[in-house]
Amino acid sequence: MQPPPRLIIATRNPHKTGEIRAMVGDRFEVLDATAFPEFPEIEETGTTFLENARLKAEGISRRVEGWVLSDDSGLQVDALGGAPGVWSSSYGGEEGNHAKNNARLLAEMAGKADRSARFRCTMVLARSGSERAAFSGTVEGRLVEALHGDGGFGYDPLFVPDGHEKTFAELGDEIKNSLSHRARALQQVVAFFDGMGIK
Ligand code: IMP
Repeated sequence: MQPPPRLIIATRNPHKTGEIRAMVGDRFEVLDATAFPEFPEIEETGTTFLENARLKAEGISRRVEGWVLSDDSGLQVDALGGAPGVWSSSYGGEEGNHAKNNARLLAEMAGKADRSARFRCTMVLARSGSERAAFSGTVEGRLVEALHGDGGFGYDPLFVPDGHEKTFAELGDEIKNSLSHRARALQQVVAFFDGMGIK
């Protein structure tokens, strides 16, 4: 039997890799940048999810054989004009500090009646340094007024997806991975591989 094709995720965020791995099952061998400590950090200098996703996928795929998939994602809050958006991971002032990010979001949302928000995920597939395809997924929902639950990561304890009464952090991996922005983008990635006959 042939080994599954290798998919390298252009991230060092173990939560993203874990969700992607859980969603593709044994269809792909999923690795990420932590398996390649020699890879440089790719600076996210873009102003859109697509630009940043492209920088990461193309940058990493210049240095490794095979398919590289990047994920640039974040939270867009209507009452904040789309913030934190591409700056989601450093909104609280410190890159990747989810507690600080959530604290700032709660402070900015204090007293706001419109709590609508969405997660957005843009994925780029690249090979040999160039983009081959891009995909995007969103999940609509609303923000609650205090942290609830300890699953997931990032803004999950503040986000209730439409059709549910609990936050992503309370709903657990199985439900999150069936309807998240990342799941919706990844379904398109899998369809792309199906269309190319890559099983
Ligand atoms: P990136 O690594 O530049 O794509 O930034 C992603 C940031 O967006 C994370 O650090 C989180 O703050 C937020 N984010 C993205 N996806 C999720 C999610 O599934 N749940 C909660 N927060 C997320």
